[in-house]
Amino acid sequence: MKRIFLIGYMGVGKSTIGKELAKRLNLSLVDLDHFIEARYLKSIRKIFEEHGEENFRKIENKLLHEVATFENVIISTGGGTPCFFDNIAYMNGKGTTVYLSSSPESLANKLERFVHSRPVLAGRTGNELLAFIQENLEVRKPFYTQAQITFDVDAMKTRYDIQPLVEQLSTIA
Ligand code: S3P
Repeated sequence: MKRIFLIGYMGVGKSTIGKELAKRLNLSLVDLDHFIEARYLKSIRKIFEEHGEENFRKIENKLLHEVATFENVIISTGGGTPCFFDNIAYMNGKGTTVYLSSSPESLANKLERFVHSRPVLAGRTGNELLAFIQENLEVRKPFYTQAQITFDVDAMKTRYDIQPLVEQLSTIA
């Protein structure tokens, strides 16, 4: 039975890499953000707006526990998921955790066009966005780095360049 959790900062490519990984390892893919949106019939942005971040984190924690019972699955988590409650320890106990890592500069580049769907980024752009990511990533790294495997996304030439990760996961998970 395989259960793989993809963790990492917003914009790192958890969903894209998750899709490709699921195909290659013949596993299904669950996106925790989509799972939350489908359950609450609201976008993540709306949940933040109407209930605040604290309540969003409680919902996220509760639904993480639900998806973590699924089998033969890749679970793509939200950027903040491992950093609240005991979520990272919980995921480590439930399956294989993979941290997709990237530099603040590449993340800022990728996120520039998507800040509006990410309430945590609050519409920041340019240098302000980069400074926020640099700081926020430092806060989150101690959680991310508790993952069992780290995969450097910046070293990828294309988004299909995940063979080393596929091989590692074939033996470990
Ligand atoms: C968040 C990341 C988002 C989503 C929410 C909060 C975060 O997921 O869960 O907006 O705190 O980093 P993605 O990493 O898929 O953008």
